[in-house]
Amino acid sequence: MSPRPARYDAVADFYTSGWPDAIDDPASLRLLSLAEPIAGRRILDLACGHGRVTRELARRGATVTGVDVSAALLAVARQAERESALGITYVHADVTAPERPWLLPAFPYDVVTCNFGLSDIDDLDAAVDAAARALRTGGTFVCSILHPCFPGVHHVSGSWPEGGRYHDEGWWRADGELSSLRRRVGANHRTLSTYLNTFRRHGLRLDVLAEPEPPEAWTAERQDAARHPVFLVARCVKGE
Ligand SMILES: C[S@@+](CC[C@H](N)C(=O)[O-])C[C@H]1O[C@@H](n2cnc3c(N)ncnc32)[C@H](O)[C@@H]1O
Repeated sequence: MSPRPARYDAVADFYTSGWPDAIDDPASLRLLSLAEPIAGRRILDLACGHGRVTRELARRGATVTGVDVSAALLAVARQAERESALGITYVHADVTAPERPWLLPAFPYDVVTCNFGLSDIDDLDAAVDAAARALRTGGTFVCSILHPCFPGVHHVSGSWPEGGRYHDEGWWRADGELSSLRRRVGANHRTLSTYLNTFRRHGLRLDVLAEPEPPEAWTAERQDAARHPVFLVARCVKGE
């Protein structure tokens, strides 16, 4: 059964033009480095969008499956695959749904990646459960998110609403002038402990936690952002 229409369907053109193939942001680069070794591995890219990171994983020699709930973004990913084949399998699915046909292409996986996907996914527990089940024992789950402790700075919304409380979790739509994507699609705020405890509950042991600094060009437009933690990247290992 096809998943319901997704939030990103309506912003697919905006997202694909704003986040093109070149991967130069520190958080995605860190995610890729924490996913190494990549060559020869079976990798599942969860919430793959139009396949930016998916393609880079395949270019680095992995056998990759990408799964996403947005039909519009997947259409762009599949078109890129038709134009320049990297052997990627794309699956249209909600990763939090109980049926998981998307696990099949190369199950079990050595690595599951999720680049800036977890806060877009409404059911964190189900998504992390799916990631953990997709992995072989000893496999790694690597994810990046906007830092849940980022409070926001001039014109850039933080992880939770201005005037709200860090401890109040939930979906909301950002209003900061420079929060271009989150103003259009919104995002889920969760505390740092919710993320880490959810990983742990699903047998994913924290291995590396990184807080890469934003690039200078980003900070130049967003004064004071660099005084706060902006990005969070984690690598977890699936235990017995
Ligand atoms: C910020 S985009 C990141 C896309 C990609 N990983 C990248 O780095 O460009 C977040 C993605 O999460 C996807 N997403 C949100 N909820 C999902 C769900 N329940 N199942 C699968 N994908 C989901 C969206 O469709 C969107 O493509």
